[in-house]
Amino acid sequence: MINLVVFILLLGSRCFRCSAALASPLSEYEKQLKKEGFDLKVLHEEIKEESREVLKEFGSKTMQTDIALLRADYERAAVHSTNETKEITELEMNNGISGDLYEGDLELTPEQWKAATEADPHNPATRRQALTNFVRMWKPIGQPLIPYNYAPGYPADKKPVVKASIDFWEDRTCVRFRPATSSDKDVLQFNHIADGCSSSVGLRGGVQKINLGNGCHSVTVVAHEISHTFGTLHVQGRSDRDKYVRIDTSNIKEGKAHNFLKEPATGFSHYDIPYEFGSMQHYHEKAFALNSSRPTIYAMKAFEKFQYSMEAPRATFYDTLLVNRMYKCTDKCQKKITCQNNGVQHGSDCKKCFCPRGWAGTNCEKRPADAQTINVENGKEVKVELGKSSGDFIEKLYILKAPAGKKIQTTVTKLGDRYTSMCRSFGMEIIPFNDTRTSGFRFCSEPKQGRITSEGDTMLVWVYTTNYKFYANIAIKLV
Ligand SMILES: *[C@@H]1O[C@H](CO)[C@@H](O)[C@H](O)[C@H]1NC(C)=O
Ligand SMILES: *[C@@H]1O[C@H](CO)[C@@H](O)[C@H](O)[C@H]1NC(C)=O
Ligand SMILES: *[C@@H]1O[C@H](CO)[C@@H](O)[C@H](O)[C@H]1NC(C)=O
Repeated sequence: MINLVVFILLLGSRCFRCSAALASPLSEYEKQLKKEGFDLKVLHEEIKEESREVLKEFGSKTMQTDIALLRADYERAAVHSTNETKEITELEMNNGISGDLYEGDLELTPEQWKAATEADPHNPATRRQALTNFVRMWKPIGQPLIPYNYAPGYPADKKPVVKASIDFWEDRTCVRFRPATSSDKDVLQFNHIADGCSSSVGLRGGVQKINLGNGCHSVTVVAHEISHTFGTLHVQGRSDRDKYVRIDTSNIKEGKAHNFLKEPATGFSHYDIPYEFGSMQHYHEKAFALNSSRPTIYAMKAFEKFQYSMEAPRATFYDTLLVNRMYKCTDKCQKKITCQNNGVQHGSDCKKCFCPRGWAGTNCEKRPADAQTINVENGKEVKVELGKSSGDFIEKLYILKAPAGKKIQTTVTKLGDRYTSMCRSFGMEIIPFNDTRTSGFRFCSEPKQGRITSEGDTMLVWVYTTNYKFYANIAIKLV
């Protein structure tokens, strides 16, 4: 996955907020590029050319036919909102700006830019490969330590969100942060004067920034950017993604197609992490959409239930495992421990296991103490709910249990009273799998997915919110 970084760096980050930025006042980063002699107009043209290359790459007839079929399926399945006035986008909730939150959120270092621009412009393959040498990890591997500080004038009231995001990762991985001192050479700096949310990928050397402009101050966003700082990229750029998703390039905003390019098939590691639609590092289905009533990312037929479940409000089990594997967090553990229910040794604490959803205890041997178990009955509805929150992420887990030998089939009949375009701030996830490492099916605005059937006699329902009250009614059928 780390090399995936490189790929988007080359093709994605080349376009570091290119089209928007060229028209607006130069960002600090662009000023730096200009100072280093880059002609932004020329870069913009190059990016356009790359977009054309992508369209060519994805423009074959078979691809178009497949997309037409997926689109037709989507339109049959989609329930269109009848009450647009209630719709609020995640960004509006965060701070009143619109647009793609993660747009151009991977930044190239000057060396990476140089490597990209100096390589043979007629051979994208060599350009891609050229950059693989430029992704570095924080040191020491096994217990990386990241000195950080805030750019001058960073608003004090926003710092707790950054701190909460740092704590989030420290709790789950071996990565540690400490305030930078004047003798630190490599420093991660949180910067708020930015027109978007972005991060360098991996260790860049010197002072490197995570830019958090308006709309970026939620743990969901900051934790996502910090993950890039560790060296991760986006899931939908994986080399194996064509098995899982199809990208509708005809619905991508001009100049943004490069965001959907794939990493090269060789020389990359996914650290044996499966493709996860519901990863925090997966784009949502309508990312960069020209016509926002249609997706840009279609889940392939075999995975169509995941169509509305891309992206995550928090790093998932696999998002966490990825970072722990990249930094070899558990290699140092002298005593290996056995974990039940698909748990793994904890990246932050060798003495315990890191558990998939629905499991807790030192060895993931028991249910979380605060989960609520409901013995479901055929034909009865279950109501799940969570009160309002004023910014803190609150969550609750329901464990639905069928009589032995029965499976649970759920249909969501009622869902909150707010519409939102993504499920970042509030929502519910239904996990019907025996193996709860993979994230499940997400609901927040409209019950777009039909019936969901559990694999065994148990089904998890996880609800969360950072703002509005959330509730759902779920009709139960035992099968
Ligand atoms: C639409 O939303 C408004 C405001 O929340 C509400 O008063 C109205 O009843 C809703 N209409 C429908 C058709 O759901
Ligand atoms: C956007 O897509 C929707 C759904 O396919 C379609 O009904 C609508 O006409 C499209 N809008 C434009 C401006 O093309
Ligand atoms: C899930 O677990 C149940 C036993 O609890 C088993 O009968 C079933 O075959 C399993 N299904 C899958 C897909 O693993």
